[in-house]
Amino acid sequence: MKITIFGSGYVGLVTGACLAEMGNHVVCYDVDKHKIETLQSGGIPIHEPGLDELVHRNAKAGRLQFTTNVDLAVGHGTLQFIAVGTPPGEDGSADLQYVVQAARAIGERMTDYKVVVDKSTVPVGTGDVVESTVRQVLQSRGVQLDFAVVSNPEFLKEGAAIDDFMKPDRVVVGTSDERAVHLMRAVYSPFIRNRDRLLVMDRRSAELTKYAANAMLATRISFMNELANLAERLGADIELVRQGIGSDPRIGMQFLYPGCGYGGSCFPKDVKALIHSSIEVGMPLKILGAVEAVNEWQKRTIVDKVIARFGADLAGRRFAMWGLAFKPGTDDMREAPSLTIIRALCERGASVSAYDPVATREAQRNLGDVKGVTYASGADAAVEGCDALIIVTEWKEFRSPDFAMLRTTLRHPVIFDGRNLFDPALVREEGVEYHCVGRQQPTGGANVRN
Ligand SMILES: NC(=O)c1ccc[n+]([C@@H]2O[C@H](COP(=O)([O-])OP(=O)(O)OC[C@H]3O[C@@H](n4cnc5c(N)ncnc54)[C@H](O)[C@@H]3O)[C@@H](O)[C@H]2O)c1
Repeated sequence: MKITIFGSGYVGLVTGACLAEMGNHVVCYDVDKHKIETLQSGGIPIHEPGLDELVHRNAKAGRLQFTTNVDLAVGHGTLQFIAVGTPPGEDGSADLQYVVQAARAIGERMTDYKVVVDKSTVPVGTGDVVESTVRQVLQSRGVQLDFAVVSNPEFLKEGAAIDDFMKPDRVVVGTSDERAVHLMRAVYSPFIRNRDRLLVMDRRSAELTKYAANAMLATRISFMNELANLAERLGADIELVRQGIGSDPRIGMQFLYPGCGYGGSCFPKDVKALIHSSIEVGMPLKILGAVEAVNEWQKRTIVDKVIARFGADLAGRRFAMWGLAFKPGTDDMREAPSLTIIRALCERGASVSAYDPVATREAQRNLGDVKGVTYASGADAAVEGCDALIIVTEWKEFRSPDFAMLRTTLRHPVIFDGRNLFDPALVREEGVEYHCVGRQQPTGGANVRN
């Protein structure tokens, strides 16, 4: 099948590469010249495990092509996937300008039947907007062509994106157009051979399904974060509580880890966008408002613990930070808690020596305006000359540190762990003061902000 993808970011590039791997002929189009040049010259603009190999193999086989030529892009695919960004606007609503641009570009150039497949995460009703945009452009051209608009939300996780795309839990297809359903089934059938996981529904329900999924996951995280803060005050251990509730199959173990808040390109903006949609229709989602507020609070709890330990004036203090990306396996820094924490520490006069296995370049782009941040080439190098260590991202390489080295290198052998990587008793046996989330805290280390 001939397929075009609008947008060659995390979703577009993974989608394009995986569809090409199944034998389709895919053209990935992007307005970002630099990104396309990087891809054309064999580079991969993002960090995603396994993606470089997949892209190179399919590009070499002639099934995957990258272009900034929109005529070529629209002319190529019967299926036109839209995988452009939908960033939050100032009021929290999803900014649909890139989606509408893509729809217009398709309408302006199409000469035969197209299925416009919306893979970007978009508010309910955006499919209608895309449909009317294409229709209006066709009318202004004075041509009559059949087309369908399908909602096909993407559920991949950065860091495991290829696996998720290749073995989806479900594929949601929102349309009432039979011809489009047939084509979507044909495209996805190689990915769901062992069990039919294609859920066909109306377009609005498909659009809402994506927001509902992310809202539910964000809710679990904020729920656990709030309980963790309570556990600290009550002298309970959230890790034991997590196991105690997660073993109930009605609850399950996934997404029950407390930490220093969720970030990334999806949860924060999707929660905001769904809240915005709910307010617009006079049905404000109270639970999601709390989910967001708890998350904002949680990103600051590590800073509170640092202040409780070292005082409000952090001038002259230097903190090592392990992990910058919003989660392991990616270089994505969008809404990463590390950004909030670094800014808050530097505002109080501290400096930060940061290390992340892959996200340094993205962090530099995001923190260019912040004075006092330097980037180390490794975890051990990061702690040199520092007062204490703060852990923000749970990369595997941070899981078994050399505590003796930390004890002797840090000016104060103190760890603030935003991801609960270690057994508190074990760390303390190593002679290191350990502040974590929702587990026993050293005296004075409790969540102190009121
Ligand atoms: N990143 C994720 O984990 C993830 C998961 C599921 C869904 N999504 C959703 O998928 C969408 C894309 O997310 P992403 O993370 O891939 O974004 P991204 O920022 O990595 O990529 C978007 C790309 O679209 C390009 N673009 C913008 N306007 C364009 C246009 N008119 N024509 C062609 N290209 C254009 C940009 O240059 C950019 O390269 C968003 O709606 C997001 O919410 C993301």
